This record gives sequence, C-alpha cells and structure tokens, in this order.
Amino acid sequence: MIALFSVLLALLAPLANAAISGELNCTTYNGTSFVYTPAAVACSNAISDSSCAVLYPAPDATAGWPAAGTDAERPLACYTTATATPAAVVPDMRAAALKNCAKTCGLCCKTDAYDCPNVQFPRLNCQTITNAQCMSSQWRTIIAVDCPSACGFCNQGGCVDAVVDCANDRSVCGAVGMQDFVNTYCQRTCNRCASSTTAASSGTATGTCTSYIADSSTSCRSWAANGFCTNTFYTVAQRRSYCATSCRLC
Ligand SMILES: *[C@@H]1O[C@H](CO)[C@@H](O)[C@H](O)[C@H]1NC(C)=O
Ligand SMILES: *[C@@H]1O[C@H](CO)[C@@H](O)[C@H](O)[C@H]1NC(C)=O
Repeated sequence: MIALFSVLLALLAPLANAAISGELNCTTYNGTSFVYTPAAVACSNAISDSSCAVLYPAPDATAGWPAAGTDAERPLACYTTATATPAAVVPDMRAAALKNCAKTCGLCCKTDAYDCPNVQFPRLNCQTITNAQCMSSQWRTIIAVDCPSACGFCNQGGCVDAVVDCANDRSVCGAVGMQDFVNTYCQRTCNRCASSTTAASSGTATGTCTSYIADSSTSCRSWAANGFCTNTFYTVAQRRSYCATSCRLC
C-alpha cells in the first residue's frame, strides 16, 4: 500500500511543477522564475480567508497559495474561467478576485491602496520592502513618501503615523509634554504632516518664503549634511518633498 502510494506520488510529482502563468501582475522575475512580490500578498481579503480558500483553491496543494517569493501557480479562478493553463485573462473574473480575495489570489498590488507609482529615486528598494518594514516606526514615513505602493499607503498622500498605535488614542495629540513625540510619530492622526503633496506639486523651486514645509523625515538634517540638498540625482521637487526645511526650499 505504501509502495503504491509512493508510486502515485512519483507520478504526480511532475504535475507539481509550479509556475505562475497567464496573469503576471504582482510578480517579479528572480533570475530563474516569476515569483510573487511582497506586495502581492500584503493586503487582507475583503471576505474571510476561509471563504477565499474555498472560492479560489490552490491549483497545486503542495505549493499552496501565492506567497512572497514563491512561484506557486495562481488559483485559476482568480483571473480566468478556464480550468487548465495556458488560460486567457477574463476581466470579470479578475475584477471579482481583486474585490473579494486579493490576498488569496496574490493580487494585492493591484488594489487601490497598493496601485500607485513610487518616486523615481526611492531611498530604498520598493520591490523588497517587507511587512515588518511596513509596520516599523523607523521606516513607515520614508516608505509613505518613496514607496507608497509597497505598504498600501497609496491613499495616504504621503502622510502616515510612524507609530501604528497612534490612531488608537487621539487624546495623545493634545497632551502637553507629548508634542515632540506626536510631531514625530503621530503625524497623520494628529494632523502634523506638512501639506507636502500639494506644496510639492506647485513646482516653484526657490524664492522667498517665510516658512518651510516640515521635513518628512527626522533624518533630513543628517542627509543635508551629507549633500542631499545639492545632489542633482534628486529633482528639486523630490528634495523639497522630503526635506524642505533642512534644504531651505520654499
Ligand atoms: C496586469 O493587469 C492589467 C490590467 O490591470 C493587464 O492589462 C495586464 O496585461 C496585466 N499584466 C500582466 C503582466 O499580466
Ligand atoms: C527563484 O524562485 C524559485 C521559486 O521560488 C526558486 O526555486 C529559485 O531558487 C529562485 N531563484 C533565485 C535565483 O533566487
């Protein structure tokens, strides 16, 4: 019996040859295969995970569902009505998957919160940002400006709380003695973001101004010391949107 079982397994093994085909959004080529990006599975399903698992069964039980860095085949119903690959994309199927089970389908990167451009010269590699970085007070404000698509920050206008918990207790915004903390870590909840998104698009380079837009990062002073403000690798608009105050850009 066990022998028969292993023969069956051996026969099945070639079928378990995973590869993502048909719908390649939210994947990246790693040199040998297309694999899911972290942003492919960074969101939550709109309906329960268990319902999504039933609606969108994994084509290969061993490989399982899409996960960052793997090449498990995408559940077919996520993008097609066909029952075998190669299969053409059926837009209605894809739209339904995106709306209900974006995570199970490995399509998070195409949802509203994740589908927007990153800056041209990000300070970190937007493709490899992990979920831990998306939650990290050290990284969130930088990611919100440079790589909003990596963490689902597309609808935040570059303004996020560095500390995720801020939103749980708004009273902190008015607390005397907490203002330094709040200005640095609770920008969104306490309305402390510079209006950098509107100001940055106004286009004027220098000129006279009485006040500057607040720096988007506490690291601006050290970047300025390292030549960030005069580095033409970044556009004036980029320098202004990160570090208007430290760079003295109106
Ligand atoms: C990604 O999705 C878009 C629809 O939003 C589709 O037109 C495009 O062909 C897809 N790209 C790939 C590489 O699958
Ligand atoms: C690319 O991804 C595949 C599937 O996960 C893996 O087997 C392979 O080792 C990866 N290649 C590189 C160069 O990382």
